[in-house]
Amino acid sequence: MFRRFAPVLLGTAVLGLTPLAAQEQPVPRSAGTPYAARNLPDRVVLTPAADPTTGMAVAWRTDTAQKASEAQLAVAVDGPTLEEKAVTVTGAPGTPKDSANGPALYHQVRFEGLTPDTVYAYRLKGSAGWGEWRQFHTAATEAEPFRFLYLGDIQNGILTYASRVIRQAFHGHGGIELVLLAGDIAAQRDDLDHDDEWGEFGEAGGYNWGIVPQLPATGNHEYVDVIRPDGSESRKLGPYWPLQFALPDNGAPGAKATTYYVDYQGVRFIVLDGTSAIDLGTMKQQTAWLDETLASSSAKWNVVLFHQPVFTCARPEDISEVKTAWKPVFESRKVDLVLQGHDHCYSRLTSEAGREVSAQKRADGAVQGPVYLVSVTGSKMYGLNDRAPNQPDRVAEATELYQVIDVDGDQISFRTYTASGKLYDGFELERRADGNHLTEIDEPVIAERTCHGSVGPDGGTCVARAK
Ligand SMILES: [Fe+2]
Repeated sequence: MFRRFAPVLLGTAVLGLTPLAAQEQPVPRSAGTPYAARNLPDRVVLTPAADPTTGMAVAWRTDTAQKASEAQLAVAVDGPTLEEKAVTVTGAPGTPKDSANGPALYHQVRFEGLTPDTVYAYRLKGSAGWGEWRQFHTAATEAEPFRFLYLGDIQNGILTYASRVIRQAFHGHGGIELVLLAGDIAAQRDDLDHDDEWGEFGEAGGYNWGIVPQLPATGNHEYVDVIRPDGSESRKLGPYWPLQFALPDNGAPGAKATTYYVDYQGVRFIVLDGTSAIDLGTMKQQTAWLDETLASSSAKWNVVLFHQPVFTCARPEDISEVKTAWKPVFESRKVDLVLQGHDHCYSRLTSEAGREVSAQKRADGAVQGPVYLVSVTGSKMYGLNDRAPNQPDRVAEATELYQVIDVDGDQISFRTYTASGKLYDGFELERRADGNHLTEIDEPVIAERTCHGSVGPDGGTCVARAK
């Protein structure tokens, strides 16, 4: 059992004001410290710059002997001579972080001035020497077709269960160029360390996290509870987020560390922070920034990613703060996809009035507004609410899923697969002169997966619990 950090001390450590060594309580260790930092880099996460045609960033971890944050970068060649033309790129010295797995240093470097549509190789320095060469591809300046992966909450059973889903996604669907994470990456809030779970996250995605740029959104579990001087409760961004994700610094005032946008080959991806908006008073700033960022977008498609959904598939009531503030902006600015998590169930919703109304509108040739998705990757499952049978077009319960989205000119092809790679849902969005038109796919999908009483969709126990 971990002991909790003293909240105030944790907060100052996040801000870098108090050296970790100055913490009064020693950090309890995980038995056997299975995720102790080593003499070679691990937890390698690639993230895009705001303009991924010319910039990428990488974060990683080492043991405490490797003080410098050092990378080498080369335009990829096809023989084993990458060292010959590599340039060294350095970042600020590593940031110390003690944890249940012992002390470590976290490093970040930013690769800038890159050539668009080009394959680069990079390697990172540990105290024992260089790690292996990893390869990434800068975005093209034009709206070239590409594929991205969208994952709901990984959070629980990260290595035990979620890893299978992540690996199936990459193994079953080549050419994934971006990964969108809808928050609750590790269940951090209930225990203020959770270093093991960040270790599991690194292991679950493995080398993919270091070669495919990640676009993470914060979930509520990326925050830690803190007690204000007056005794009231509040939240603060947990320590792992800023260490593990080197994100573009172009977000909303008041939520700069966790909101940002990235333009990628004809799509503007906008990432919001629902927890900060709801609990930390940044809703107004984020909403204004969202509106401006959509207004200034020259991309053909606008995709918004955040955690707490507009339309819930598990909770008795929709989350009113989010729905009131953001839904009107999504509609007025014609957002195409709204990708969310938090509810640990699956929902694809095309009309608040329900699936029958939505289908009739489509049959009548109506333009499609924002399509709202909720999905889940890890093992925690919530039961569907009373609107699930009628409001969303498609739902799932007690099912681990991943989504593969292909963008090609005027067409977005959205496909949802189960953990074992079965097609579960899908649609095509086509941009015409009057707006988006959605068509259901005619490929066969498996039967709807829900619990029936205490029996789950696989015939065993229903593991979804009522929210
Ligand atoms: Fe969650």
